Amino acid sequence: MSKPNRSETAEPLVNQKKIRLVVAGLGFGASWVPVYRDHPNVEYIAICDTNAELLRQVGEKHHIERQFTSLQPILNSNEYDAVHLLTPIPLHVEQTLAVLNAGKHCACAIPMALNIEDLERIVSTQRKVRKHYTLMETAAYSTAALYVKDLYEKGALGELQFLRGAHYQNMEGWPDYWKGLPPMYYSTHALGPLLFLAGKPAVKVHCLGSGRLPQEFSGNYGNPYPIQTAIFQLEDSPVVCEVTRCLFQMTRGFQERFDAYGDKMAFEWPQLNDEQPMLYKVEPGPLKPGQRGRPTAAERIVLPDFAERPPKTLAKYIQDTPSGNFRPHMVHEFVSSIIDVRPPKIDAATAANWTAAGLCAHESAMKKGEAIMIPIFKEL
Ligand SMILES: NC(=O)c1ccc[n+]([C@@H]2O[C@H](COP(=O)([O-])OP(=O)(O)OC[C@H]3O[C@@H](n4cnc5c(N)ncnc54)[C@H](O)[C@@H]3O)[C@@H](O)[C@H]2O)c1
Repeated sequence: MSKPNRSETAEPLVNQKKIRLVVAGLGFGASWVPVYRDHPNVEYIAICDTNAELLRQVGEKHHIERQFTSLQPILNSNEYDAVHLLTPIPLHVEQTLAVLNAGKHCACAIPMALNIEDLERIVSTQRKVRKHYTLMETAAYSTAALYVKDLYEKGALGELQFLRGAHYQNMEGWPDYWKGLPPMYYSTHALGPLLFLAGKPAVKVHCLGSGRLPQEFSGNYGNPYPIQTAIFQLEDSPVVCEVTRCLFQMTRGFQERFDAYGDKMAFEWPQLNDEQPMLYKVEPGPLKPGQRGRPTAAERIVLPDFAERPPKTLAKYIQDTPSGNFRPHMVHEFVSSIIDVRPPKIDAATAANWTAAGLCAHESAMKKGEAIMIPIFKEL
């Protein structure tokens, strides 16, 4: 096993400007609180949750005095520049619009929205108010995703040939809004890293539903499938992405995984999350006379931790696993996009493209795999 060289980048220059930020929704959201609190360009943070007891507990644990049981006073106040929404899925669209219309920057947990019209509303509002919108697609900032993006950008993977992603999770016992959710409505954990790597949106999809969703897990979405599997064609690219998403009924432990195949090298996610991934390298040069097939060397690699990338105060939140690591990088990306007055890397148009691809995949599954063209939101 060999450890790849850690890139020798210096500690990022820290601009002296500071912003004031709110974390709203303290289930999954609670784990983001100390990371924002410790960012050197954050002056202070507030927390918000309709559950007053949870709010008090998170505030006490992380020493956050500014506490709110509703978003409204935050939106009415000029004491906050940005809100990160980690509230239940059905609230994302209206809360995103409210944050942007209040003149504040918005980061939102996935999914961005559950229909194309709402994606259009968010993109057009973001363009009108000229505040940042970013989708906090954590899988695009996993340790493995950072590593493979580096390999690709340095040319080591060669030309991309094929991409594959999957997100397996069992949602029994989760809040009711998960029941019957079309799996592809929550597919950006599987598709997002692939599109981020390729740097292109998906333009066309064929998708099929699989399995049988028992009555007790069906909801109000009219979706009969616990699992969906799709093939996405990318814009101006010969590359196809194969994506599988499951929410119920599949006998597989949790995993958000991807594999990336170039013509020089390939990356494969490990079978289990606590294992290390595989890197494959094809032997370069001409084949020997009579040789059939090009030899490929397989190596299990130890991923770098990229701890040098976010500010030093966030290094303690780095997790060195293929799926770990995302919070310090994403907090730093969102905060520094505001401080440096540049678009976030996953901006509103990019987020809408990633999300629309899944919405169209479900439409295809409901039409037995018919090809569906995916609307493209262009960056301005
Ligand atoms: N890796 C990831 O990207 C990842 C992981 C988990 C969850 N998520 C997403 O994060 C979001 C939160 O997930 P969760 O499982 O914690 O959800 P959840 O439904 O358990 O609720 C989160 C919290 O939001 C609070 N809340 C409800 N209404 C609110 C309101 N109007 N204002 C403020 N707070 C309110 C609830 O009291 C709860 O504490 C979801 O959208 C989910 O899709 C993303």
